[in-house]
Amino acid sequence: MPTLTLAPASVTDYRRLAERRLPRFLFDYLDGGAYAEVTLARNVRDFERLELHQRILRDVSARSAKTHLFGAELTLPLALSPVGLSGMMARRGEAAARRIAGVFGIPYCLSTLSVCSVEETAAAGTGPLWFQLYMLRDRGACADLIRRAREAGASVLVLTVDLPVVGTRYRDVRNTMSGGGGSWARLRRGLISYALHPGWALEVGLGGKPHILGNVAPYVKDATTPADFSAWANASLDPSVSWADLAWIRAQWPGPLVIKGILSPEDAQEAVRHGADGIIVSNHGGRQLDGVASSISMLPRIAEKVSGQTTLIVDGGVRSGQDVLKSLALGANAAMIGRPWVYALAGAGEAGLHAQLNAFLGEFSVSMALTGVTRTDQIKRAVLD
Ligand code: GLV
Repeated sequence: MPTLTLAPASVTDYRRLAERRLPRFLFDYLDGGAYAEVTLARNVRDFERLELHQRILRDVSARSAKTHLFGAELTLPLALSPVGLSGMMARRGEAAARRIAGVFGIPYCLSTLSVCSVEETAAAGTGPLWFQLYMLRDRGACADLIRRAREAGASVLVLTVDLPVVGTRYRDVRNTMSGGGGSWARLRRGLISYALHPGWALEVGLGGKPHILGNVAPYVKDATTPADFSAWANASLDPSVSWADLAWIRAQWPGPLVIKGILSPEDAQEAVRHGADGIIVSNHGGRQLDGVASSISMLPRIAEKVSGQTTLIVDGGVRSGQDVLKSLALGANAAMIGRPWVYALAGAGEAGLHAQLNAFLGEFSVSMALTGVTRTDQIKRAVLD
């Protein structure tokens, strides 16, 4: 295995670049999962286990990877998942991701817990902007976030429902990113990180103002450090949220409403009964309930119950254009990536993210050709063995 990557090709390569550039505590926050990271590994492994079915001599000269999702035409059936704190990984990271997603032609979903506000992010690019919401105890703040997202031009509201409480991530505990560790430990860690990662420190740490979470800053009193915001977030997430709250959200948001974090066929049916325009099959990238099944292994069972009644998206473990193809084969209308886009942006900048998306498109298109299909609506279970 070469140690020097001249030109990153795979998500693994971008991951390595991000690991080199980011302070350890940030890389671990991005890269890690809950507890023993069993589900995190399962998400990736279960994609690898799926075998493609090679076909030949079918004239695959004219191929299109395009698809439509919530009224927009996409270059590839893919969207960028919401990743909290991505503006700490790359300078004004959310605005940068929106810019590149727009140029490439896929949606970008902005997390509630972002450095860039929805207004800054919206102004940074074109193309579909989705807004991810956590239900907060402060319903006034929630209503205001939804209003701001609508006024900024977001086209889809994504309600994340798998985080009524935050899953424990061992790496974050060890790094005092969450849980123990007092302010001295944090200060010492901060200074060491800056010294060991001068590229990140100058560009992002000092130049990118990553310590203010722009979306929620208006609702957080006296927060000046990431620890203040993190304490606020933990205290503000509403664990009492239930199906009954969907009607309240509906009343605030006239556009497409997508529920993210569904892993059970029964919950998928319930979401459809409550009028969800879309469902994201997800275990939060293995960051919440460690030990649950992978997203891709649950997709067929969920598709069997709700296919044709709502838009189905899968998130978790997608590491290549081939995985996007496998997602469609098992019933998804599109797939989402979280860690991969942040690895690329943090490790290789906007050009890196653009190159990574092009690589996904290339892999998807070549895999279409070699499984004998030319349009995304032809990608069915038959492309798998
Ligand atoms: C928040 O969404 C997280 O997974 O850290």
